[in-house]
Amino acid sequence: MAALRLRNVFARDALAPYLAGGPGASAGRVTGAQRDAGTVGVPAAAVPGGSPDTSATGVGLMGLRFPNRVGLAAGFDKDGYDVDSLGRLGFGFIEVGTVTPRPQAGNPRPNLFRLVPDEALVNRLGFNNEGAAAVAQRLESRRYAGILGVNIGKNFDTPLQKSGDDYMSCLRTVYGIADYVTINVSSPNTPGLRGLQDPGALRPLLLELANLREQLQPVHSKRVPLLVKLSPDLTDEQVATVSRELRELPVDGIVATNTTISRPQPLKSAAAAETGGLSGSPLHARSIAVLRSLRAALGPDFPIIGAGGIVSAERGAATRNAGADLLQLYTGLIYRGPALIREVLAIVR
Ligand SMILES: Cc1cc2nc3c(=O)[nH]c(=O)nc-3n(C[C@H](O)[C@H](O)[C@H](O)COP(=O)(O)O)c2cc1C
Repeated sequence: MAALRLRNVFARDALAPYLAGGPGASAGRVTGAQRDAGTVGVPAAAVPGGSPDTSATGVGLMGLRFPNRVGLAAGFDKDGYDVDSLGRLGFGFIEVGTVTPRPQAGNPRPNLFRLVPDEALVNRLGFNNEGAAAVAQRLESRRYAGILGVNIGKNFDTPLQKSGDDYMSCLRTVYGIADYVTINVSSPNTPGLRGLQDPGALRPLLLELANLREQLQPVHSKRVPLLVKLSPDLTDEQVATVSRELRELPVDGIVATNTTISRPQPLKSAAAAETGGLSGSPLHARSIAVLRSLRAALGPDFPIIGAGGIVSAERGAATRNAGADLLQLYTGLIYRGPALIREVLAIVR
């Protein structure tokens, strides 16, 4: 079993128990001690050599052809160090970032908490990243040949009224290396960011970015789809408003959803009280409720990527049935390991 080399420390720690393998590797009964230590074991599944096709031709969406419907969500490989390794796990696509124009350290540690009995995480990382230019440069020399999304945001100390400049700067910087770009207006750990989902802010931001895309398209000889990533904390009324806006704006798709600042009960872990965005199992119900509303409002053809609480094949199927064209995993990978990718693919068509 080949060891997977991951530079990202969190990703490495999280996936090492599944991938390091070797002759003595556990065949995977999960013990209480392992769970407590956060080194949950499952059978060290074979690392697939490529991306399994959903069908002979994959999935056509937004002018791209995805080899399958299961991708890696943003925030796992923020700086694009690990796409070559992660690309070997069988994902249909990988989203790196969030990147900001200038490098930033993010919030002081501790900023990431495991809620093991809840199969959840709380994070308040705060867009720690090396900056869009460094990440774009790194990704230029990637060997990963699959679909690459880049998630863009604003620096924490850029005034909110100047947010547009940050997103424009990022789009310009990553355009050449991205197959699609996700505009992140929904992370809870950058003060004021989620206010950019208000129609008065969202409309001008997306129009500005779409205009910039018109300029970049001929330069790079490609039209990069623009997606908007939404929060599960939008009220039903806000979801309806955003849907109306998105129908009229030059946007190619939605990622639904980011993490939540809510704490859906019951939660068993003390760390649930930590400030930050909750991901994983307890997020699933709200994520698919938002997804369902978006699908109902936007009709069958609007591209939607579903993320949030896909910790099992059944959850993947439920997200697909709620209207997602594609799925993204994050917290499920931490608790179930990369075998989850194949498990979801086995039942999601
Ligand atoms: C530790 C951590 C860091 C994350 N960082 C980002 C990020 O930088 N940008 C972003 O758009 N989403 C980020 N997310 C949100 C995920 O992309 C995903 O939308 C969310 O976790 C829901 O999926 P899950 O329940 O499968 O984890 C992060 C999530 C976690 C757990």
